[in-house]
Amino acid sequence: MTTPTPYQDATLPISDRVDDLVSRMTVEEKVGQMMQLDARDDIADQVLRKHVGSILHASPERLQQAHELTDSTRLRIPLIIGEDCIHGHSFFGGATIYPTQLGMAGSWDAQLIEQAARTTAVEVAATGIHWTFSPVLCITRDLRWGRVNETFGEDPHLIGELASAMVRGYQGEGLADPTAILATAKHFAGYSETQGGRDASEADISRRKLRSWFLPPFERVAREGARTFMLGYQSMDGVPITVNDWLLTDVLRGEWGYTGTLITDWDNVGRMVWEQRVQPDYAHAAAAAVIAGNDMIMTTPGFFEGALEAIEAGLLTEADLDRAVRRILTLKFELGLFEDPRRPDADRIAAVLNTPEHRALNLEIARRSLVLLENDGVLPLANQTSETAARRVAVVGPLADDAQNQLGDWAGNSGQAGWLPDGQPRELITTVLDGFRRFAPSGWEVPFGRGAEVLTLETDPAGEFFPDGQPRPQVVVPAEPDAALIAEAVTQAEAADFVVAVVGDVIDLVGEGRSTATLELIGGQIALLDALAKTETPMIVVLLASKPLVLPPSARNAAAIIWAASPGMEGGRAIAELCLGLIEPSGRLPISFARHVGQQPTYYNQIRGQHGDRYADLTQAPAWPFGHGLSYTTITYDSVVLDADSYARDEIVRARVTITNAGARPARETVQAYVSDTITSVSWADRELKAFVQVDLAPGETREVLVEVPVAECTIVDAEGHRIVESGAFELRVGPSSDEARLLRATFAVA
Ligand code: NOJ
Repeated sequence: MTTPTPYQDATLPISDRVDDLVSRMTVEEKVGQMMQLDARDDIADQVLRKHVGSILHASPERLQQAHELTDSTRLRIPLIIGEDCIHGHSFFGGATIYPTQLGMAGSWDAQLIEQAARTTAVEVAATGIHWTFSPVLCITRDLRWGRVNETFGEDPHLIGELASAMVRGYQGEGLADPTAILATAKHFAGYSETQGGRDASEADISRRKLRSWFLPPFERVAREGARTFMLGYQSMDGVPITVNDWLLTDVLRGEWGYTGTLITDWDNVGRMVWEQRVQPDYAHAAAAAVIAGNDMIMTTPGFFEGALEAIEAGLLTEADLDRAVRRILTLKFELGLFEDPRRPDADRIAAVLNTPEHRALNLEIARRSLVLLENDGVLPLANQTSETAARRVAVVGPLADDAQNQLGDWAGNSGQAGWLPDGQPRELITTVLDGFRRFAPSGWEVPFGRGAEVLTLETDPAGEFFPDGQPRPQVVVPAEPDAALIAEAVTQAEAADFVVAVVGDVIDLVGEGRSTATLELIGGQIALLDALAKTETPMIVVLLASKPLVLPPSARNAAAIIWAASPGMEGGRAIAELCLGLIEPSGRLPISFARHVGQQPTYYNQIRGQHGDRYADLTQAPAWPFGHGLSYTTITYDSVVLDADSYARDEIVRARVTITNAGARPARETVQAYVSDTITSVSWADRELKAFVQVDLAPGETREVLVEVPVAECTIVDAEGHRIVESGAFELRVGPSSDEARLLRATFAVA
């Protein structure tokens, strides 16, 4: 029997194995080990010539090919396979696709989201993927940004809660767990602080502002054990994040003691050369990125030659590479890839993909993601009819039966992966029309009319590709209202007892490089709603939209409005069930809705101090505030009583909140607690969410709910950037949303 070389010997400590392997690697192999390349390109060149350490966007066939190539390499270092499995196993045909992160955030339920991540990991791991680029911890600020749907909304506390849950779900019991996948906290940090919503523009953001709101969710998941961090595209104060020493070294590695792995975003290193133009060539860019502490360089093919040149020119040493290489190899050893490269396993895939349990969980999340924004009593529809009456519900609108758009971005054929041109299997997706047809009481009729087209696409006059060869998104041309489609939908509506108008956005208006200048409904949709509103038939507007949009008066005045943020495969069923009264609405807005695009930003926790509180021509109040969401009953907030008047910094504020279900239907209420520091030494947000509790209330039931806020959370960030609790007067404001008018107040002091 031959003795295994030390790095192949599973009985040795990981650090010994890493030492041994690093000592055997050539400089080319080390540079390659730091690279993650796009498997849709020349995979043989990537594995055999560039010695690549990782690939992403690999179709099942490419994945197989990559492993076979790796088997023929000198050291047979297993590849680590990455993919954006961000709301389910996005690009694997037949996998479970959940609502988008923003949709899931509507549930305000960390446990549910942890389960979604866990089941995603189980599906993903079986297919040979080891690393998901999720969750997104960016804070939505400007709704025009194309990536709002990928976030958990606008509040740092909610984001921290939900993102930590997702990290726990993905990483399972630890990396030795064969169903665990690596989580990625992204995009570190400040990426969402765009200029006018333009994707990846320079973030005009101070260090204090970062520390105040943008960094806390990241710090939270760093402590939660998120094994990798992805660095945003953008620069701050002129310095791209990829080489931002303050953020990476002082804060992340220094203050937080983070020991995980750093991956750049897509071609961050190349962008410093061809886009931001802060590095003269790839040698300098590669050297700067390695020295700044990046471990894995995503999709910069020129990093290979660049890093080698940098070493040649003395800009970089092999020891600099070793630090990053060691970290990547350690991950691979911890995942056990040298013993079991965790390749796709057909039996496991068959056993775990889109199981009835995963579908049931998906349905539950879809139900919980829906937010009932308005209801004049028309919903639930079943209330309006006697048990036996046959009814007619016209389901109209361009999104009523649009299976793929219902899944949202990063799913099926949303554009990032080419191997699912037709998207996810149609039969796995329940559209709103399907939902009504399947779940309406027998005898009900559900006619359909498309009503409007949304848009067509044209090639960007600047060309089909960006300078790095990436496809440039096509230019959106809004569709003109179509008189025949409108007439058909109006006829359907006139002959019906109710009309459900399903409108919103489509994938071409969502995502990277697809920020929007407006927030209005595009194409013929407004004309459709205006025409439907003129009929006598009560209208329920279902806004099936990746992000909050601005609704026209015809929709604002509808009998009911529901927001379904890209609700996933079971979304249409959940929407139908909600309208029909088969379930109770319980979602709450994780993000504010604007009345007009010019109100941006509309997030609730803005800093105190401006002249007045409105524009000359418009209120600044949002259409619906953060935290808002109706039930089919009325919940009253009766009182809030604190257990003390004054607290020390290490104590917990305990509030007893009495609430009553004053109506006839059960409800799940989300009791929200906001803290307001009355006088602060520096300007600060008037109120910030610090806790929330979900409770189920039967009709007529009164409950006393305990809400706890540690005083240590009642912080501000001072002018020097230190997070502190200041002594003095505070208010705890408790209620059903962030709307000031709906919050009960109790005062306390911090001694
Ligand atoms: C770029 C996106 O910004 C990032 O979120 C994603 O994970 C990578 N591309 C990989 O697809």
